[in-house]
Parts: sequence; structure tokens; C-alpha cells
Amino acid sequence: MATCFFCPPPIGFKTNNNAISIPRFTIRCNLKTEPDAVCGAVKAFAPATVANLGPGFDFLGCAVDGLGDTVSVRVDPQVHPGEICISEIIGNATNKLSKNPLWNCAGIAAIEVMKMLGVRSVGLSLSLEKGLPLGSGLGSSAASAAAAAVAVNEMFGKKLSVEELVLACLKSEEKVSGYHADNVGPSIMGGFVLIRNYEPLELMELKFPSDKELYFVLVTPEFEAPTKKMRAALPAEIGMPHHVWNCSQAGALVASVLQGDLVSLGKALSSDKIVEPRRAPLIPGMEAVKRAAIHAGAFGCTISGAGPTAVAVIDNEHAGHAIGKHMVEAFIQHGNLNASAQIKQLDRLGARCIHTSHDM
Ligand code: HSE
Repeated sequence: MATCFFCPPPIGFKTNNNAISIPRFTIRCNLKTEPDAVCGAVKAFAPATVANLGPGFDFLGCAVDGLGDTVSVRVDPQVHPGEICISEIIGNATNKLSKNPLWNCAGIAAIEVMKMLGVRSVGLSLSLEKGLPLGSGLGSSAASAAAAAVAVNEMFGKKLSVEELVLACLKSEEKVSGYHADNVGPSIMGGFVLIRNYEPLELMELKFPSDKELYFVLVTPEFEAPTKKMRAALPAEIGMPHHVWNCSQAGALVASVLQGDLVSLGKALSSDKIVEPRRAPLIPGMEAVKRAAIHAGAFGCTISGAGPTAVAVIDNEHAGHAIGKHMVEAFIQHGNLNASAQIKQLDRLGARCIHTSHDM
């Protein structure tokens, strides 16, 4: 299905659940003239992400290497100019993903980037390779959106800024889970990212020292934790003591990242008193998994994003494997859930173009 996106819905359009949705920002075309495609096809990869990092709900996240989604886009004369079509989805959970670009994270982000660029004369085909499982807490929807946004931007000469790409991806996040940039920010930028402000969007890169080794132990149980449901479990308001505690811990987390102090980073990662206590009971075995990780020597452990993946941090790969084994056992014993562990490092690059072809 191809979609024309130059007929925006009226402001305040009705959504499926009959609520009035007011767009959070206005996408405008910044360019005076429509850009030409500088290549015929582009392939981009975007990494998985760990959002929240404990006390940083909706404002801190980081990218992890070796896991992610890949999007290819190509100029397609069969597609009506100014339209986009999803030709193929391969990899994880393909039967659960829509090929309608309006209901697919990669499609939504690609459409927003085309709108921002003002592309009207070229039709695009998009192919999505899902490397990440859906609803795992590893930023699956964000990785699809980020790879698509970067691919389309690359195709038209990289005219958009990082902030604009994140805004395009936020359109997709808003539709599928909620308006939060702590996955799309790091998936696009790599490393650790602080979302300082949403309106206007202000992103801060937190440089983790290049000479330090940081390993994430990511343990994913066979359990679904849809982000929308996990967000609905959160308190609407919090008391002053929890506010003070979580702010101080998030500050400590930022300082630890900048200093490359892994022990302190782990302590802060484990410290959330607002979000994790509401979500952990919804993921069978999560509290025991966290205890098992710490007992096995992890510097800290929490829920990755909205879950169900548990994330622990450590400074060497060997210890990471041992910690992962204990966490998997705890999911089986205390949650009756099979789980698998992966040891990954920080992705410092973020979403990137991995192939271009000049054939039109
Ligand atoms: N900050 C978001 C949440 C991340 O925790 O709901 C979702 O991946």
C-alpha cells in the first residue's frame, strides 16, 4: 500500500479511541527547494537502546551495539511521486507488523522525513529487516524509526539535523507507545543521551570516556510487556521525597557516565523509587532477577525501558556471562519464564548508513 502524506489530518483529529489528538509539534518543510535524491538506494542500521537507565524515566537512554534494525529505501518509479510503499518486512515478528506505512514505525518516520524535506517528485520503496524482538524493552520501534529516518535523510543529501530526525521518529513513538525520546534519541545519536527538554526538543550527548569498558547484561524473558500497558501502570503524581531521591540519583547517574565510574553508575541504575517499583511486579520474577544480578557481582540492575528485559552493568565480558546465567536462572525459578542473556557494549555511533547505491 502506498500512502500520500501531503494531505495532513486536521488539527485535533479523532484517534481510534475517540480521544482528540493534538499534534505536539508542527512538521514544516525547511527547504526552499525540493532536494534531489543523491543516490538510488540506501541501507541504514539503527541500534537497540536501553531507556530510563533506572531513575531517568523518559529522559535518559543509551545505545547498545550489535543489536538493531535495518531499513533499505530506494527510488521506485512504480511508487507514485511523493508517496512511500513498504515492499518487504523480514526478520522478527514480521506477521505482527503492518505494511501500511501509516501504521509501521519505519513508515511513519520515513513519511515525516519526506515531509520535512518536502519531497514530492520521487516515490520510495522501503524494506525493513527486524533484528529486534517486539515489545522487549530494547527500543524495537525506535530502531525501526531511526533506521528509516536516517536512510531517507541520507538519500536526499543529509539535509536534516539530529533534532529533526529525532522529531520525525517521535511521531512514530507517539503513535505506538508514547511521546518519549529516550529510545529514539540514543538510537540516532549513539552513546548516552539526556533529553533535556521536549518542547522545544533539546538533546544532550553524555560522553562516556572512550578508554572505559562498559558491558550490559541484557536478559530477555519470554513475556510480553507492551509499553502502553507499562506506562499505564505508572503513578500520575509523586511525593516530594521520591522526587528529591530520583532527581539526586539521576544526577549521580549523569556524573557517573561522564566520569566513567561504573560502580557509581550501577548504583544509580538500581536506585529508581518511582517507576521500577510499579513495573517490576508486572514482570514475573523481575525482583528476584535484580537480586540475582547484584548477588552475582553486577554493579547495578533495573528494567530496560518498559521491560520485560532486565539490564545489569559490569566492567568485563566474562563476569557479564556469569551474571547473565544467574539472571536467566532467576527468571526460570521465580517467574517461571524462559529467558536468554546477551552481553553487549555501548554503541557509540548511533544510526548510520551502511550502504548506498547510485543506480537510480
Ligand atoms: N521511557 C519509556 C518508558 C521507554 O519507560 O515507558 C519505553 O521503551
